[in-house]
Amino acid sequence: MSRVLVTGGTGYIGSHTVVCLMQQGYDVTIVDNLSNSDLKVLDGISGIVGRRPDFVQADCLDGSALDAVFDSFPDICAVIHFAASKAVGESVEKPLMYYRNNIGSLLNLLESMRSHKVNRLVFSSSCTVYGQPDKAHLPVDESAPIQKALSPYGNTKQINEDIIQDTAHAAPELNAIILRYFNPIGAHQSALIGELPNGVPNNLLPFVTQTAAGLRPKLRVFGDDYNTPDGSCIRDYIYVMDLAQAHVKAVQRLEDGGREEQVEIFNLGTGRGLSVLEIVKTFMEVTGAEVPYEITGRREGDIEQVWANPEKANRVLGWKADTPVGEVLLSAWNWEKHLRNIK
Ligand code: NAD
Ligand code: WQD
Repeated sequence: MSRVLVTGGTGYIGSHTVVCLMQQGYDVTIVDNLSNSDLKVLDGISGIVGRRPDFVQADCLDGSALDAVFDSFPDICAVIHFAASKAVGESVEKPLMYYRNNIGSLLNLLESMRSHKVNRLVFSSSCTVYGQPDKAHLPVDESAPIQKALSPYGNTKQINEDIIQDTAHAAPELNAIILRYFNPIGAHQSALIGELPNGVPNNLLPFVTQTAAGLRPKLRVFGDDYNTPDGSCIRDYIYVMDLAQAHVKAVQRLEDGGREEQVEIFNLGTGRGLSVLEIVKTFMEVTGAEVPYEITGRREGDIEQVWANPEKANRVLGWKADTPVGEVLLSAWNWEKHLRNIK
């Protein structure tokens, strides 16, 4: 049986991925410092899967702790690296913390992997590397130009991608898959795991569900004067369980060999752009919950419209994000209700 090391595995995307890995027979070791997640997530995972992943509370900035994990689990055959700080606004306020955490963690991990001869890596990157693509590059495929990052967070993803490319160049036995996520949303159908935003959410969906739950008086829709059909921004919202499955496909591809390049890059999205107002209206339709909202000014740094061309992932990984958006929005609402004990 193969074991996968999942850094950041108690986090939002990590926990859903751990469920998919375990359901497909993998053993999993999670390393997380719990800086943005909770131990209770492990109960959620075992409630769904029926067994518990191995868990080590450790910081990826601690290289010897990572070495100890590889020593304790010599059957680790691949690593999925989710652990990172991810709040764009916070990264502008605390750039050094973001550079240290996101870059230092990857450097330590790669060094530990090299010294333990673990040569398969899946890395969480982001569509943020594309910035606002010009019209000719919409929908965005993997060949679209990388643009200068708009935030330290975005820059850490670009630097991390370069670090992986350079390390692979120097080490022909290292194989990596870089996954560029669009906008992950929703929660596992059981409502036993989901997104746990810290404080006031920055992302749209947690703000919508918290407003529907009465925790926030109203949602602010950041602008309706963009050059889009209804004037609000367009994104490619991808169901977190579909995203999680793509990681299993990526690990399988690394195990199977037969790869096109030593470092492969895939855009993970649905291929469909939805506006903020479409999301809010569909959410109200499928859940029956009210989401009071007002149109306010634009949010600084927002991109007008971006959505994925996921054709390469569809063809090469044999993966598709096809959960209907109504179902996805309902899963987000069920998770919020579970968190707040709403019947
Ligand atoms: P998350 O914050 O829920 O999960 C990250 C986990 O990593 C948390 O459990 C946190 O405690 C842990 N962590 C952070 N720094 C650590 C460290 N130094 N050592 C050990 N553990 C550490 O975030 P998420 O939404 O699940 O994102 C996972 C990955 O996907 C991140 O790399 C993020 O940048 C990337 N990503 C997220 C999105 C998104 O919208 N959620 C989009 C694109 C890319
Ligand atoms: C989505 C849309 C907002 C909140 C961020 C990161 C990106 C990636 C994904 C990690 C936008 C609008 C939002 C609100 C609103 N993360 N909105 N009212 O900005 O696409 O991307 O998460 O890699 O790097 O930047 O996601 O969820 O913040 O916003 O109107 O209260 O919802 O303007 O159009 P975004 P988001």
